[in-house]
Amino acid sequence: MNNRLLRWAMVVFPLLALLFFLYMTFFYSAYESAGRITYMQSCASCHGENGEGIALLVPPLRESDYLNVHFEQLPCLIRSGMEDTIVVNGKMYYQPMYPINLNDVEIANLMNFMQDSFMNERKNKSAIRTLWVKTQADSCK
Ligand code: HEC
Repeated sequence: MNNRLLRWAMVVFPLLALLFFLYMTFFYSAYESAGRITYMQSCASCHGENGEGIALLVPPLRESDYLNVHFEQLPCLIRSGMEDTIVVNGKMYYQPMYPINLNDVEIANLMNFMQDSFMNERKNKSAIRTLWVKTQADSCK
């Protein structure tokens, strides 16, 4: 009896662990610290460690009215870059941003970090999931 229970547990527990891992990887990504690392590696050099931007060269991400309106386009903006004249918090910017090669998981983590750290208006929004990023990115022009 005990033996059977043990064997049962040896099958069920690894299976549960695997399911949990798959769920975390593909459907749920609220790893804020992973997002912070991606931000520091891929964005901070231009947008600043605290999202403050650089004078009139690089727009801020912290409390950016532009980002608030275009948050859902962020996966495409990152992958395709941007070469527009835009107005962010009342100031005009026109330097190009080159495409940045991040995968769906990295972008989801990054967006969760950004909405928690830089965006008061999005603080209580639900977490961005990897699957959502994939859907958005698939529809990029
Ligand atoms: C090489 C410098 C550089 C890097 C690295 C960079 N950006 Fe940008 N980013 C810019 C510039 C310049 C603009 C303005 C583009 C324009 O006017 O067309 C911009 C615009 C933006 C905007 C829209 C304007 C705003 O401030 O709301 C967002 C959002 C953004 N970047 C997010 C990111 C994210 C997220 C990363 C990291 C994955 C990143 N950027 C990396 C230079 C950079």
